[in-house]
Amino acid sequence: MGELSGKKVLVTGGAGFIGFHLCKKLSDLTSNLTIYDNLSSGKIENVQDVPQAKFVKGDILDLKTLLSQDKADLIYHLAAQVVVPYSMENPLEDFGTNAKGTVHVLEKARKDDAKIVFASSAAVYGNPTQLPTSEDYGFHPFSCYGLSKVVGEEYCQMYHEQYGLDVTIVRFANVYGLRCHGVIHDFLDKLAKDPNRLEIIGTGLQSRDFVHVSDVVDALITVGSSGSVNGKTYNLGYGKTTKIIDLAKMMLTILDLQDKTVITTTNVSWQGDIHTIWFNIDKAKKELNWNPKVPLEDSIKEVIAARKLK
Ligand SMILES: NC(=O)c1ccc[n+]([C@@H]2O[C@H](COP(=O)([O-])OP(=O)(O)OC[C@H]3O[C@@H](n4cnc5c(N)ncnc54)[C@H](O)[C@@H]3O)[C@@H](O)[C@H]2O)c1
Repeated sequence: MGELSGKKVLVTGGAGFIGFHLCKKLSDLTSNLTIYDNLSSGKIENVQDVPQAKFVKGDILDLKTLLSQDKADLIYHLAAQVVVPYSMENPLEDFGTNAKGTVHVLEKARKDDAKIVFASSAAVYGNPTQLPTSEDYGFHPFSCYGLSKVVGEEYCQMYHEQYGLDVTIVRFANVYGLRCHGVIHDFLDKLAKDPNRLEIIGTGLQSRDFVHVSDVVDALITVGSSGSVNGKTYNLGYGKTTKIIDLAKMMLTILDLQDKTVITTTNVSWQGDIHTIWFNIDKAKKELNWNPKVPLEDSIKEVIAARKLK
């Protein structure tokens, strides 16, 4: 792994879930870290828990403020509108943040001649017919969110090819861990309200590749410090897929609720919901020497313990 020490690092979306864990780790590696976040879904506690970082409450759509930030050597671009159903109801806003916002961040990288790491998503594959899905499967987005991430990726490639910008794209599967949002927290919220019933949105047969945030952060640090990932794209998942109904059963067993809680399904899911996410992670394993370590069950216990539900 190369050196980050002394590097000036800017993290957009650093007050969010993944951003927080990344910044926590980065703050051990460099003394020059800036979090740039408009706190639309990010939390001020996440910023306060990384006291070594400079915090700028700013919007990536505010180009003037973004460009006026101190010169960066490395930019992690995580800021985004991240909710698929919201993207279907508000495609223009989703496009603005994720597509135009990404071009703004690329402009900042171009001005500073900084290396940039772009956070993309499994949503660019849509409903893949190739499972597990590898990086070369191609774009088949199934939601406005997926499409805006495709546009972000394409701009990253364009800046790489035409301006020689040092760009790496990472596609996340379903990242989870302490402070996360998403299905694990939704289930815990529902069970906190009513432990007798757990409603799954959709059939429950939809399936996800859950990867722990600590594993994702390890890969992000490797990518940010490596000189050999320029222009490359990596899938970051666990390389395994779990049906949502099995996740629900696993959680109920951990909570000793398996005999008490009735699982129900709505059968109809939200627009843009993907059936199966299952990443082929051979490329990241080989080229980044990265091996996700944290199994799902262990860390669900960690998330539950943190919520004091058991
Ligand atoms: N969590 C996952 O499972 C997952 C999966 C695939 C891709 N991703 C991608 O990873 C990145 C981080 O996701 P996350 O789960 O931490 O989400 P998050 O919502 O916790 O973090 C996103 C952050 O971006 C900030 N933000 C949003 N719009 C902004 C704007 N216009 N200007 C400045 N800041 C803005 C939010 O306030 C928030 O802090 C996103 O790009 C997301 O699309 C996440």
